[in-house]
Amino acid sequence: MIQNNTFHILFIICRLFDSQNNNRGGYNVGSLYYYEGSVLPIEWTNQHSCASPNAHCEIILQYMCDDWLRDGATTKQAAVNTRQNPNGNRRGYECPEERDYYPYWRPSPWKDIAVMTNDVQRCEYYRTESANVKSKWACVIPMDTIKENQGRFLLPNNKEDCEAFTYPSNDPDGVRGVWTEFPAHGIPAPECRETEFSRDNHLGNGLGGQPNIYNWTVPNEIHEQCAIRIRYNISTEDYDPWNTTYNTDEQKPLATKYGFNSVQAADNRGYVFENDPQVEVFNDADFQLELAINTAQFGRTFQDRTHSFAIRPRPASTAGVTIHNLNVRGKRGNIVQVYPAVEYDFVPNHLEMAADDVLHIQWTGSNTNPPNNDGNGLARTDRNNMVLLTPKVYAEGSDQAIRQQPVFGHYGNNYPVHVENSTLLGFARADLLNLAYNSPNQLGGELSQLDDAGTYFDLGPRRVSQVGTYQYMCSRNNDFTNRDQKGRITVVPYPIVSNAIGWTGGMVTLADSQAVVMVEQGDFSSLQKLRMEEWTVDQAQSRIRSPPAGDDYASSLVILYPEEKLTVEGQSITMQLKLNSDDSDITVYRSTSNNMGSWTRIDTSVSNGMAEFQTQYGGVYVARKHSNIGPIVGIVAAVVVVALIVVATIVYFKRNPGKWTRLMSGAKKAERSVQNKV
Ligand SMILES: *[C@@H]1O[C@H](CO)[C@@H](O)[C@H](O)[C@H]1NC(C)=O
Ligand SMILES: *[C@@H]1O[C@H](CO)[C@@H](O)[C@H](O)[C@H]1NC(C)=O
Repeated sequence: MIQNNTFHILFIICRLFDSQNNNRGGYNVGSLYYYEGSVLPIEWTNQHSCASPNAHCEIILQYMCDDWLRDGATTKQAAVNTRQNPNGNRRGYECPEERDYYPYWRPSPWKDIAVMTNDVQRCEYYRTESANVKSKWACVIPMDTIKENQGRFLLPNNKEDCEAFTYPSNDPDGVRGVWTEFPAHGIPAPECRETEFSRDNHLGNGLGGQPNIYNWTVPNEIHEQCAIRIRYNISTEDYDPWNTTYNTDEQKPLATKYGFNSVQAADNRGYVFENDPQVEVFNDADFQLELAINTAQFGRTFQDRTHSFAIRPRPASTAGVTIHNLNVRGKRGNIVQVYPAVEYDFVPNHLEMAADDVLHIQWTGSNTNPPNNDGNGLARTDRNNMVLLTPKVYAEGSDQAIRQQPVFGHYGNNYPVHVENSTLLGFARADLLNLAYNSPNQLGGELSQLDDAGTYFDLGPRRVSQVGTYQYMCSRNNDFTNRDQKGRITVVPYPIVSNAIGWTGGMVTLADSQAVVMVEQGDFSSLQKLRMEEWTVDQAQSRIRSPPAGDDYASSLVILYPEEKLTVEGQSITMQLKLNSDDSDITVYRSTSNNMGSWTRIDTSVSNGMAEFQTQYGGVYVARKHSNIGPIVGIVAAVVVVALIVVATIVYFKRNPGKWTRLMSGAKKAERSVQNKV
């Protein structure tokens, strides 16, 4: 095992990173910082489709922190060497190989965050081969020898050749290779799950019109120079991308897959794996169609990375609290000029958080955008601010109640509210001024379009306590419907958590472990966006039409969305609710949030202050205690099942006389009720 700094020696030989962003990167300055453990939404656009039969697709997110990591110093990066063109002509320790293959066989300083793939059956392979958990081997040869002899020899890629390697070759006194183990990064295996759908010819947004997102929990690797890297790997369906190598006879699979009897028969009709083949679609040699095929692009990997950013320790006052990052993406220009990046936008555009969570608002920009790019304020510059929009002016049919809570500012307006009336997030006036004028970072001077403010702004972490939905804009860049820069933050009065979980399973945990959902591999057939809310009994009271059986509540009400069947047939997920009672006779009931009148009893076990049960459905779950039922149930335990139901029902209805009368008015209803529900 060797020291971490050997990575530098291995990777200094080539640029660690070749960008395929079409020379259309966003900002050319960075310097953002994120708190350890904060939630950072990562958004991207991909040119080809994902989660669609149109292409195999993997999206791989990684990060690294390193003193040697730096940003490019020029805004004019040459794109010619960055595409997958053979002219780059790198050999030996060349990065294109590292870029194109994942998991990579050699050591790499990149740590895996997540792999999203069309084929989750491969997840186990990704997770076990990840350098997070698996050491990698490489042939180490002294740096000077490599530098001085570039192109003169190939670096061995296996133990045998490495140990036999001498330079000059056959010189017993020459330099020797040492087959060396590089330790795993020693962090958990990456999350692996389905990609989210996005279509080709479309550049990015997913279903619902928002970009696909991966919510990254920033690790506690405190460092001033970190970067995130994203790779996007596609291959067509024409051949099996994982079982075809350069020396496979590519003609054969193509011929048989397309229903020809022999390679020759396929060849005669032009069904060969080559550039721009002319195929005879009908058995007529006079009529051939030319296909636009570039065999080198049937499988492609694209990549890009962020500017460097810092990961800093969270302030002590935020211990145990969720920190949400709110930033600005995109750059100066109209939709055509910024393509394939985007115009300015707040990220996440719709942020949902729990009251008492922490919000960290921060953005950066540059002064060197292309001179002709459209925008307001001084040419070439990026600036941002945040002001609350004016409230709704008049009623309109399509106004939708976002939640049953106060709404501040109307999304369709384009004027900011007078600051005296502003209640943006309940922030103090000083913060509102800072958000509006970029103070205290602004340099003085003319601020109507923020030209004299700095490119970088940081409000610092702020606890948000005022519940409501806040709709805000950037006064400088918001250009009505043309280049809209508005955002929405919804602060709800209860804990909330969301996570996308697919076939491989996963967990969702509410703050303080008030509720936990555990999904095992195979429980779900596809990616589901789970979300949990925790309502106190008081908060739910007005919506509870009648309480479930039992004497009292033994937990909060936990709502798991979507409130429908989640699992594949025959599978169930495990849920736990934290109990606020030591009572041993606990039962969990389920209903849905728009019902809460009829409740289904769920088999429950209790241990360590948690009620645990299996379910197939989302919905409202709550634990109840039956402190006086215990002995009765004990007595009837030996009696036949029907009798048990009758006794339990009588006990229950005695405690709920109103319900008794109601149910007795329809015997059929009562019958169904004693069977499935109590
Ligand atoms: C891309 O997919 C191919 C299979 O088509 C695979 O060999 C390669 O390792 C993948 N590369 C990345 C970066 O995922
Ligand atoms: C990411 O988090 C946001 C809340 O901040 C949530 O609305 C969204 O569904 C999450 N996305 C995924 C893919 O987990």
